Amino acid sequence: MKRKLLVIGIGSIGKRHISNFKKYFKEIYILDNRPDRLKEACSLFNITGHFQSLNKALSFTNYDTCLICTPPSSHLGIALKCVQKGIPIFIEKPLGMSCKGWKQVSDICKRKKLVNYVAYCHRFINYTNDFLKILKNKKKIGKIYSINLNWCSYLPNWHPHEKYTNFYMAKKEQGGGALLDDSHGIDLIRYFFGEVKKVSARIYNLSELKLTSDDSFYGFFEMKNNAVVQIKFELFSRINDISITIHTSNGTFIWDRVNHQIVMKEKNKKIKIKRYKLNNLMNMYTDQTKFYFNLLKKNKKHFNTIEDALNTQKIIDKCFLSSKKRRIVNV
Ligand SMILES: NC(=O)c1ccc[n+]([C@@H]2O[C@H](COP(=O)([O-])OP(=O)(O)OC[C@H]3O[C@@H](n4cnc5c(N)ncnc54)[C@H](O)[C@@H]3O)[C@@H](O)[C@H]2O)c1
Repeated sequence: MKRKLLVIGIGSIGKRHISNFKKYFKEIYILDNRPDRLKEACSLFNITGHFQSLNKALSFTNYDTCLICTPPSSHLGIALKCVQKGIPIFIEKPLGMSCKGWKQVSDICKRKKLVNYVAYCHRFINYTNDFLKILKNKKKIGKIYSINLNWCSYLPNWHPHEKYTNFYMAKKEQGGGALLDDSHGIDLIRYFFGEVKKVSARIYNLSELKLTSDDSFYGFFEMKNNAVVQIKFELFSRINDISITIHTSNGTFIWDRVNHQIVMKEKNKKIKIKRYKLNNLMNMYTDQTKFYFNLLKKNKKHFNTIEDALNTQKIIDKCFLSSKKRRIVNV
């Protein structure tokens, strides 16, 4: 067991992380700029100390690690202060608003040998890894013709406890919007199919939702292995669709995160559905916690470092650029 954990941002994911991390830490400290959020967390968990100012929290004691669970616009400033103090960091996705400034944070981590991790947690779902195994079986898959990724949901349903217009997701300046938030999808494309070579993207505000951030992103990626990916993120879909479909010379294969299943239709075979449960999805958080705790105990080479997440962030940056310039952009 480690001693001291500081959780910064006690909203939806911050509280989830406290409930998962508490078995690994003796003392839990929390920081939020909203007193109501601090009060709520103190009523739910055994909290050692709470703060409204980062400087006060960081000068109060030494932490074994810090979880950054605030909106993306604040990730960089908080991360920089933490690593300057020599604190290992767990950063919620997306890494930030853009790649700018993160090399400095990553370099400090390397120099001080600090664990650093970005929470692209879909890599921990067991059916994600089962799908990856299928993709690696070249004989079964054949040649990949096309990849289609949808990440579509209805933003006002995300946080029933608050008006969506008050949620940071509605605000461009805080790092809300479809492209930044649904970037789990871009991370998974990299995880399954390798690196992206070129992007062509359009970012819109199409719906009646009252957002200053984008409500939709449509992209076309050319991969280094020459596969093509069509990608769609939407925040106005009344029916959730979070899935990846690939068409290959041997059939069609689907990773379905809404129905928790893998669907396979191989040529000359009947359609096959491998079903999973909601628990298999939710376990990604507990598995990620265990993985991160083990990293703190033994700082070994791992995925989802800042350096790794910068590859996803770079694609996001290039998509924003492509949409603005209305042209194909090399990554
Ligand atoms: N990996 C996942 O599955 C997952 C799921 C949900 C959210 N997230 C990510 O977590 C982050 C937070 O999302 P959320 O849904 O919990 O948001 P939220 O709005 O529910 O919570 C954010 C909290 O941070 C506080 N805050 C804002 N700025 C702050 C600052 N500078 N200092 C201290 N506190 C501050 C807010 O008051 C709020 O309580 C985002 O980056 C989001 O993309 C990841």
